[in-house]
Amino acid sequence: MSELGFTTRAVHAGYDPDPRTGAVNVPVYASSTFAQDGVGGLRDGYEYARTGNPTRTALEANLAALESGRYGRAYASGMAATDCALRAMLRPGDHIVIPDDAYGGTFRLIDKVFTGWGISYTAAAVADIDAMRAAIRPETKLIWVETPTNPLLNIGDIPALADIAHTSGAKLVVDNTFATPYLQQPLLLGADVVVHSTTKYLGGHSDVIGGALITDDAELDTAFAFLQNGAGAVPGPFDAFLTLRGTKTLSLRMDRHCDNAETLAEFLSRTPAISKVIYPGMPEHPGHAVADKQMRRFGGMISVRLAGGLEAARNLCARTEVFTLAESLGGVESLIEHPAAMTHASTEGSDLEVPADLVRLSVGIEDISDLLSDLEQALSR
Ligand SMILES: Cc1ncc(COP(=O)(O)O)c(C=O)c1O
Repeated sequence: MSELGFTTRAVHAGYDPDPRTGAVNVPVYASSTFAQDGVGGLRDGYEYARTGNPTRTALEANLAALESGRYGRAYASGMAATDCALRAMLRPGDHIVIPDDAYGGTFRLIDKVFTGWGISYTAAAVADIDAMRAAIRPETKLIWVETPTNPLLNIGDIPALADIAHTSGAKLVVDNTFATPYLQQPLLLGADVVVHSTTKYLGGHSDVIGGALITDDAELDTAFAFLQNGAGAVPGPFDAFLTLRGTKTLSLRMDRHCDNAETLAEFLSRTPAISKVIYPGMPEHPGHAVADKQMRRFGGMISVRLAGGLEAARNLCARTEVFTLAESLGGVESLIEHPAAMTHASTEGSDLEVPADLVRLSVGIEDISDLLSDLEQALSR
């Protein structure tokens, strides 16, 4: 369906109305197993729901269509998808390049688990192409990036990173969780694999945990499917249904997230209590030109540094009333958090440690006047 527009694909890809009942939404196939017409006589290819479930199949086809990819696989969480990609693509002795401000959970998995299995890594600044190139070793098999990164919103140049990876015999994996396929399409920019925490904008309502891998490479997809079934980190059918319901409105929500974030970033940049606003949509952001080239808009995430340091950061998090103090991001409701103590606590003491005066905002779709007044009151106390 890739010739159709993004929102048409979001609404329709993966499922046609049920031929028997006409149901316009895919049912939640709450069945762990599927009857066979004689041994091996599968109806529609389904045998056991860890291997495949029709609700999950609809989600996987939808996600592939959104990323303009051929193959999609859904997982029980973004970390399960990340783990599957790393295990499918790396072997003992291999080396991986990651951003020096990678999501804390991704860093923890690589640093605490994969190094124990003989994988080494180098963390480099994703926005610094020379640093990323210099991090490559003969045994490098993967460049793994987020762009924008979590939580510092650095921007990596996807075509340039793909070029570095491919000339070194490595693959490029892009975690597209922050941008979403509405704002950025890494496979069309040269990436080999896209990873998502569908928990975030794709699900969009903070009511489900999930992850996904999308690729055009049949061999990689076979390896992902093998581990999806073999290791079994699959989403249940209700989780798949909720995520699919979320993707249908992705473009509408993202435009509103972007509208609100642009206004708030501008307001925060005029606020003396804030020493720095980090938002890729601002011309002074060092990655603005690259973001402008490869993204439709600049997203709903803003990070700020507080002039009053750690205490001011914690106070801001405690004082907002419309912004809820909570981990995660990408839902319809605005969230605020303190990365050093919350989402990125696992980076403490490492090269990836985040600044103590940093606060991350996931700007929701509420009325902008309420979001502005909330930040204004929280910063003026
Ligand atoms: C960029 C990014 N990647 C991956 C993950 C992990 O996803 P999940 O929490 O669904 O396991 C997160 C979670 O915050 C994230 O922000």
